[in-house]
Amino acid sequence: MTANLSIPRHIAIVMDGNGRWATRRFLPRVAGHSQGVDALRRCVKTCVDRDVEVLTVFAFSSENWNRPADEVSCLMELLVLALGREVPQLRQDGVRLLFVGERAGLSERVTLGLEQAESLTADNKRLLLNICFNYGGRWDIAQAAAKVAGQGLPVTEKNLGEAMALAHVPDPDLIIRTGGEQRISNFLLWQAAYAELFFSSKLWPEFDEAALDEAIAAYQHRERRFGQTSSQVNGPGINEKTVLPLRQTA
Ligand code: IPE
Ligand code: IPE
Ligand code: MG
Repeated sequence: MTANLSIPRHIAIVMDGNGRWATRRFLPRVAGHSQGVDALRRCVKTCVDRDVEVLTVFAFSSENWNRPADEVSCLMELLVLALGREVPQLRQDGVRLLFVGERAGLSERVTLGLEQAESLTADNKRLLLNICFNYGGRWDIAQAAAKVAGQGLPVTEKNLGEAMALAHVPDPDLIIRTGGEQRISNFLLWQAAYAELFFSSKLWPEFDEAALDEAIAAYQHRERRFGQTSSQVNGPGINEKTVLPLRQTA
């Protein structure tokens, strides 16, 4: 197998494990979310350093509204505070921020925060950071289908794909989930079709530069076949020559 030594153009991350990180330290869950912002800052910096083009992170799911009301309001508040604090540095580092998800249902304060962050970073070109907030993969497919139907277009993969909330970027090459769970939890259902998956047992606040490099290295050892055979991808070589014919049974 030929190792794929390229850096993934688009990395997507389910940033999971904040609550457990805090609970293990006898801290309130929101302390874990606050540490999670620090982990995201580090991760963005590493992606800039490694020349990743797009980073998409899952920050708040459609289902996270079902959490206790005080945790939900702390998460909303944390987003607004973090944007205020982080946007100046993101601007300096050439990071463009875009929020992906349902805006209806967010408070005016949060909506304003998102819009300001987007417009302040609109000209940045080094890294595109998509923050999935009030996002669900099912929401995305449904809103895309509604858009296509509303335009009177046929429901084809191409038309749906162009109507999806992440149509502005190529599909993710690598999807990482921290926190030890091995599930997708309604993240990028459509766009994950051919992503390489990497599950880390590290809790999100502990996910550092070395952990991201480990995920990238694992990605580089995957063979992406997109439905083809290994020799189609690599050219006829070691795979076919070294495989012995199956022994015939009488
Ligand atoms: C992920 O961490 C952050 C959000 C979902 C907002 P969690 O809060 O899910 O942390 P755990 O999974 O409970 O440890
Ligand atoms: C997924 O994590 C959502 C985010 C990281 C924002 P959850 O913690 O909400 O997922 P489940 O509930 O364990 O599947
Ligand atoms: Mg979780």
